[in-house]
Amino acid sequence: MSGGFGKRGAVGVDAIPAPSPAAASVPVAAPRSVPIAPSAPSSTRPPAPPQDARRPDSYYETKSAIFSALIEAIDLAQLARLEPDSAREEIRDIVNEIISLKSLVMSISEQEELLDDICNDVLGYGPLEPLLARDDIADIMVNGNDKTYIEVGGKIQLTNVRFRDNSQLLNICQRIVSQVGRRVDESSPICDARLPDGSRVNVIVGPLALDGPTLTIRKFKRDKLTLEQMVKFGTVTAEGAEILRIIGRSRCNTVISGGTGSGKTTLLNCLTRAIDEDERIITCEDAAELQLQQPHVVRLETRPPNLEGEGQVTMRDLVRNCLRMRPERIIVGEVRGPEAFDLLQAMNTGHDGSMGTLHANSPREAIARMESMISMGGFSLPARTIREMIATSVDVIVQTQRLRDGSRRITHVTEVVGMEGDVVTTQDIFVFEILGEDQNGRLIGRHRSTGIARPRFWERARYFGEEAKLAAALDASEVAEELRG
Ligand SMILES: Nc1ncnc2c1ncn2[C@@H]1O[C@H](COP(=O)(O)OP(=O)(O)OP(=O)(O)O)[C@@H](O)[C@H]1O
Ligand SMILES: [Mg+2]
Repeated sequence: MSGGFGKRGAVGVDAIPAPSPAAASVPVAAPRSVPIAPSAPSSTRPPAPPQDARRPDSYYETKSAIFSALIEAIDLAQLARLEPDSAREEIRDIVNEIISLKSLVMSISEQEELLDDICNDVLGYGPLEPLLARDDIADIMVNGNDKTYIEVGGKIQLTNVRFRDNSQLLNICQRIVSQVGRRVDESSPICDARLPDGSRVNVIVGPLALDGPTLTIRKFKRDKLTLEQMVKFGTVTAEGAEILRIIGRSRCNTVISGGTGSGKTTLLNCLTRAIDEDERIITCEDAAELQLQQPHVVRLETRPPNLEGEGQVTMRDLVRNCLRMRPERIIVGEVRGPEAFDLLQAMNTGHDGSMGTLHANSPREAIARMESMISMGGFSLPARTIREMIATSVDVIVQTQRLRDGSRRITHVTEVVGMEGDVVTTQDIFVFEILGEDQNGRLIGRHRSTGIARPRFWERARYFGEEAKLAAALDASEVAEELRG
């Protein structure tokens, strides 16, 4: 589980504050009528609702009073040095004491819930803990103290999680960014950070964020999706997945294009699984998300400037440095600036099979985006030269998309073919077509081969001994199409 910090996993995993057996020595304010099994709901309360659902304001008032008394009673610095379990015990004892001193009337389960809540506040990430413990969440979006959204199954939903006030939320933001040696405040209101489990975090606070501290978390998934799972989810067909595997293995220079959260990084990770074990791969990322399976991988990460604005190492610095590290393939997590130039150069100069992702809504747009990243990078190259560079270095563009029903699909596998006049020409190998919508609002569509029997990377596939499999996959996509059509 997570290392040391916070208590992820110790709280109810499904975000349901299930009552747990209270320690025998704990003074309790309410009589316990039946022995409480760990999962049995208390007799005084209906089954616990998910998250903070319908907690009355009085709950927050009580919690706030106990919290203030607790902060006065304990030495936070000393507490931080304790093992999480002992720290939790310590807090538990003091809180129970406060409850009885203040003669607060509470049921066991209410008391347990409150204890968990307070421990999460003091030791972990407060009300975020139950969300962090859930594996089905892709993103957590906190917009100020009283609105927290999550993305589950491709859909965004409002949760009942709320923070006592914006200063509690800001404290949690501080705790998160302090892990990467940073602070957020008025003078430096934006910060990227990471949770101990690898989740990617962005924090923006006032005066820039107008409605309170705003926190966005892309949850790290330890078990990354595989191409097989993507086939099961309908992201791509089995034949399409096979074609992608061949593209990855036979060292095509590949750009994965897609919108925010459309699954670019996940797909990049899948493609890297096709890489042979004996290749030397160097990855460059803003926050290490990729999990390459090969033994010979060097992982590099950019660095933001420190508080004095010094020490920044950009993606461009990393990619350029990579070239001196004898890479066979260079993999750039996300291309968003002038490093596009260096990546294309690398692709062009013997580092076949290099890959990267970028933000664009179609393969055409991806090409335009590369062009503008290079022209804005101050290279003063004529547009035609940049386009020629793109045409000669990129082999394949794979487009990912999160559709309006929440499903994530690979919508295009497109080859860059060459130039016609001033225009980079492309051909789609297969595309996803939306045919309609079922009564539940789910989109119905199909992946369709465009009938290209011999893609340009045919020779590469042959060189890697994948020719027959490529032919079979291309054929099968067409047969499937005829049958369905
Ligand atoms: N094909 C898929 N089916 C279902 N879920 C997916 C699929 N691909 C990705 N996801 C999930 O969607 C979320 C976003 O994926 P990912 O990080 O790959 O997106 P991204 O396009 O790289 O996002 P960003 O633009 O923020 O970098 C993750 O939680 C991931 O597990
Ligand atoms: Mg990404």
